[in-house]
Amino acid sequence: PLAKPPPEIPAGDLATLRRKARGCRACPLWAPATQTVFGEGPADARVVMVGEQAGDREDIEGRPFVGPAGRLLHELLEEAGVDPAEVYITNAVKHFKFEQRGKARLHKRANAAEQTACRRWLAAELDRIRPRHVVCLGALAAQNVFGNAFRLTAQRGQWQPLAGAQGMATWHPSAVLRAPGERRAALRDDLREDLARLA
Ligand code: URA
Repeated sequence: PLAKPPPEIPAGDLATLRRKARGCRACPLWAPATQTVFGEGPADARVVMVGEQAGDREDIEGRPFVGPAGRLLHELLEEAGVDPAEVYITNAVKHFKFEQRGKARLHKRANAAEQTACRRWLAAELDRIRPRHVVCLGALAAQNVFGNAFRLTAQRGQWQPLAGAQGMATWHPSAVLRAPGERRAALRDDLREDLARLA
């Protein structure tokens, strides 16, 4: 149920999709990355969470939201009364994009072509799972699901119809972690309250 559906949605169940995505060459991000970070969670999940793109930790472990942002997300889900084990968690872009600076790998945002190339996987995940609720974390995720006109600050936390489901977008947990002082506490509260709408 994406605003801009990809021309072709890959066939097969989630295990098949995961295997196919491992060999995806639809954009150049696969080459420097360690591996594809596919979504994870129950095939019959009622809730799908869509993050932005795999980070450094995710690239190494091959699993979504296992770094600092993932820890905060799991903590907030628990606080909001949502069992993280019942949620399917994935990303709009399934490879880590980075710039090597000495030993450090600095996160780089996937460009429009890379996002478009990857959208087939998100479309296939949503098509196979058919969740009741889709929660986008951050503007990149929201624009891949709702289209480029989506504005996170204006539309945050509002459910919108999404082809048989309800979708909404909220802050990305990384945005909470990056925010200074009081702003950080406020964003954390917003995110917890938005997630609590699922409980
Ligand atoms: N940030 C994301 O958007 N996704 C991850 O998997 C990890 C961090």
